[in-house]
Amino acid sequence: MSISPAKLEPLAIDGGTPVREKLLPYGRQSLDDNDIQAVVDVLKSDWLTTGPKVGEFEEAFAARVNAKYAVSFSSGTAALHGAAFAAQLGPGDEAITTPLTFCATANCILYQRATPVFADVCDDTLNLDPQEVRSKLSSRTKAIIAVDYAGHPAALDELRQIAESAGALLIEDACHALGAEYRGQRVGGISDVTVFSFHPVKHVTTGEGGMVTTNNAKLAETLRRFRNHGISRDARQRQQSGQWFYEMVLLGFNYRLTDIACALGISQLERLDENLARRRQIADHYSSAFRGEGDVIAPSVRADVNPAWHLYPIRVESAKLCGGRTQIFRALRAENIGVNVHYIPVHLHPYYRDCLGYRGGEFPVAERAYEQLISLPMFHGMSNADAEDVIKAVNKVVSHYYAG
Ligand SMILES: Cc1ncc(COP(=O)(O)O)c(C=O)c1O
Repeated sequence: MSISPAKLEPLAIDGGTPVREKLLPYGRQSLDDNDIQAVVDVLKSDWLTTGPKVGEFEEAFAARVNAKYAVSFSSGTAALHGAAFAAQLGPGDEAITTPLTFCATANCILYQRATPVFADVCDDTLNLDPQEVRSKLSSRTKAIIAVDYAGHPAALDELRQIAESAGALLIEDACHALGAEYRGQRVGGISDVTVFSFHPVKHVTTGEGGMVTTNNAKLAETLRRFRNHGISRDARQRQQSGQWFYEMVLLGFNYRLTDIACALGISQLERLDENLARRRQIADHYSSAFRGEGDVIAPSVRADVNPAWHLYPIRVESAKLCGGRTQIFRALRAENIGVNVHYIPVHLHPYYRDCLGYRGGEFPVAERAYEQLISLPMFHGMSNADAEDVIKAVNKVVSHYYAG
């Protein structure tokens, strides 16, 4: 974006009129009457939890992402915990992951009492850099947890080769990437296990919810037990077979997703293609406004992927802007544009610094990106006028703080 030093409109942060009267959030769910009816039908049925809707949702989801098995969980975080358990992570083991993610990606390693080992990211996609991952391998590496940042798939082929050569499992945190494609394949059937979230800002929501997909029958069975206290058969299976007997075979949790949530998920999943198409239109709209060299850098897309656009993170050249990213962020919020930052690198959180001894400066690409990132509003319910407001506000604010 090139900025002309024309007469500048006063910013809302300085008392000017905001671009929008009301805040445009960075993400939000879209529910329709079919979703509501699906939930009401379950509320009137015999099963509120672990009834027929769970299996129906899992089957529909597995088919949609081209995976053999899908196992639902009560959240994306619980699903990540399941994946870390299925990878048999335990004390003394290491899992390599990215610092530029939501803390849940790395926390699941800690839940298993294993050690998170961070590797830096590629500057273009902000996904795990395979070279950096290679340099962090050790005889204790049991898993690599890649994140498809913002919905752009990670370098999955390279990471899979590295994982295979190290005898480790490739876990893909695709909480941003439902519907994304990598080298012509759908995310969900590529890695050893793939994890999704159905939080309301995602492509499909169940309120809270998550899913793990895999092509490995044994891993799927372990995941199913883990989410149900480690018990061999669930209540519905017992009821149907007319038997009370069950055994606990591993230490699991209650991470079950309810029938109420699954009914919503089934209904939402029917609109996934529509939702993806809309997000791609909005991304195109933004990218054509922020294309080219300038003070606002649009996210890059590699030729071999079709991203799902959970987020649209721009980067601002902090050094060229008075007050840097923080000032731009504040000024955009004052214009009623609900921008956000994804993410504070995980190793910089106080818990990771205090308990694991991480310090700043170890992952320069991720840390520099963090100083520059601003996520613009991105959700499938946004109108073209909403996107235009965002573009207008970004241009207004950036031109104001541009230091020349
Ligand atoms: C990359 C990533 N991983 C994991 C999660 C956790 O998902 P949930 O909120 O469903 O627990 C999120 C949530 O936003 C996420 O963005």
